[in-house]
Amino acid sequence: MCGIVGYIGNESAKEIIIEGLRGLEYRGYDSAGMALVHRGRILVRKESGKLANLESKITKKEFTGNLGIGHTRWATHGSPTRENAHPHLSADGRIAIVHNGIIENYLELKAWLIEKQGIQFRSETDTEVIAQLLGIYYEGDLIEAVQKTVSRLRGAYAVAVVAADDPDRIVAVRKDAPLIAGIGEGRNFLASDIPALLKYTRDVYLIENGEIVVVSRDDIKIFDEEMTRVKRDVMKVTWDADAAEKGGYEHFMMKEICEQPDGIRETLQRRIGEDGQIKLDGIRFGKKDLEAITRIYIVACGTAYHAGLQGKALLEGYAKIPTEVDLASEFRYRNPLVDEKTLFLCISQSGETHDTLAALREAKRQGARVLSICNVVGSSIARESDDVLYTWAGPEIAVASTKAYTTQLVCLYLIALYMGRTKGTLSEEEAGRIIGELMALPEKAAETLKAEEQIKKLAERYYIKEQIFYIGRGADVGTALEGSLKLKEISYINSFAIAAGELKHGTIALIRKDTLFFVMATQDALYEKMLSNIEEIKARKAQVIGIAKKGNKRIKQICDEVIYIPSCADEVAPILGVIPLQLLAYHIAKLLKRDIDQPRNLAKSVTVE
Ligand code: M6R
Repeated sequence: MCGIVGYIGNESAKEIIIEGLRGLEYRGYDSAGMALVHRGRILVRKESGKLANLESKITKKEFTGNLGIGHTRWATHGSPTRENAHPHLSADGRIAIVHNGIIENYLELKAWLIEKQGIQFRSETDTEVIAQLLGIYYEGDLIEAVQKTVSRLRGAYAVAVVAADDPDRIVAVRKDAPLIAGIGEGRNFLASDIPALLKYTRDVYLIENGEIVVVSRDDIKIFDEEMTRVKRDVMKVTWDADAAEKGGYEHFMMKEICEQPDGIRETLQRRIGEDGQIKLDGIRFGKKDLEAITRIYIVACGTAYHAGLQGKALLEGYAKIPTEVDLASEFRYRNPLVDEKTLFLCISQSGETHDTLAALREAKRQGARVLSICNVVGSSIARESDDVLYTWAGPEIAVASTKAYTTQLVCLYLIALYMGRTKGTLSEEEAGRIIGELMALPEKAAETLKAEEQIKKLAERYYIKEQIFYIGRGADVGTALEGSLKLKEISYINSFAIAAGELKHGTIALIRKDTLFFVMATQDALYEKMLSNIEEIKARKAQVIGIAKKGNKRIKQICDEVIYIPSCADEVAPILGVIPLQLLAYHIAKLLKRDIDQPRNLAKSVTVE
């Protein structure tokens, strides 16, 4: 996610801003930049890639100033190029801004700015509309220009503004994106997050939604929306830098597990219109295009492949298109039947996985249209696809994928719903029912996270096990596979997942007294069958922990314990059902003192075959 830093004082601002941005590196970014105000001019440097690239561009002594703003960008609108990096400037170059968040109505504002104001845009970003509006509204009073500008914005933002003609202050404003002001002596700071400031101050003001903050050398003034001065208590930061980066969590993995309600919400946001229509960020498949598709291949690796397994049922169910799910490492070598009537749907968090990229290139070579679900804007897979639907999970840092998985599932629902409605194979009523279920997910995911205490106790009881089995039926098979992968990759406990109906065809031979099973039973349509499977396992004196929807009581009578998820439709249960399994893997790995965020032998992005 993007980061903001601002500084005003008597020292050289550029080193302080770089240090601040370094404090935000853990959040992930793909370009960085800063603007300094000096002798009535705004000086800007920005670069794509790592902070070191920016650092090499700010060494010259003419790039100087005691006041400035900086930014690390994680691309959402437009690829991670220098042009799209922040700061962005007004048309006359006399106002510079940095922005975190997304401006939802930027297209309409951009059209107005181009058509009615004759503005020429220099970037593909939503952010530039803010800079251009400020340029239009600035008539000598920067605060007034900020007020007028934000009155036209819809969406989420934290924006910091500097102006060449107002060289002694930074003006910032926030709505639904974090912003803090840091208190110094003869110098003051702004930032999106505390880690940016820890080197300089631990005294901060938390800026609230709708407030404007004006930061000068000796003063920080906070105003509410009516421009009434607000009194705010100073907050003393007591965390160390490491804890602060992880937002107070011990590991990135836990932070990312807990970020899932937000990731799901962000990924759904703006893709479902008020009229219930699905919009896929401009991706267009007309009825005829969809009717012409004879086969979809979903291709991915690891966790993303498990998401793909759920996609098959959705695409076949809603859009009635035959769908195969393939491991990317297998796809290329088995001469798949690909032609121009094939849709190749690849899923990748990083967008850089070698096997997935190679499979994509092969499918493209054979004429397939490529649609990808990706988390990293501008990644190789995103760039080489015909269309991309981004998961807005934010950067995923822990090697074990969690929030990327649940948001990949959200994207698959959106694509399948869109195709089903466009093709006419899914009724409006049915689509409406599923959309209602999706919209309720952020809250239900938050509710599911509350099972953590129960899961911690289970982990304490079972972390000594040498192997753990996971089973399920239907949509629960993918969840079982994903839960098992999570456990083995971070705890190193041997684990095995299988479709419950397959147990009796061989694997049942492994069951002994005290063998531990996690049994997914979230599918109402298959619930009775799962109860029979549990009976079979219990008859062999194994231990069973069930995962079921609230309200299902019989399972409690036959399992050793049940973890309940909120009640929901079967289709969306995989998103909630995986959360207890993620928490379980985490707590077991923690008890075993594993390197949770960077397990042995694994890399976050597998760029080799
Ligand atoms: O970046 P990708 O989604 O393409 O990565 C695919 C797999 O390497 C990845 O999902 C891996 O299985 C996870 N680390 C598992 O948690």
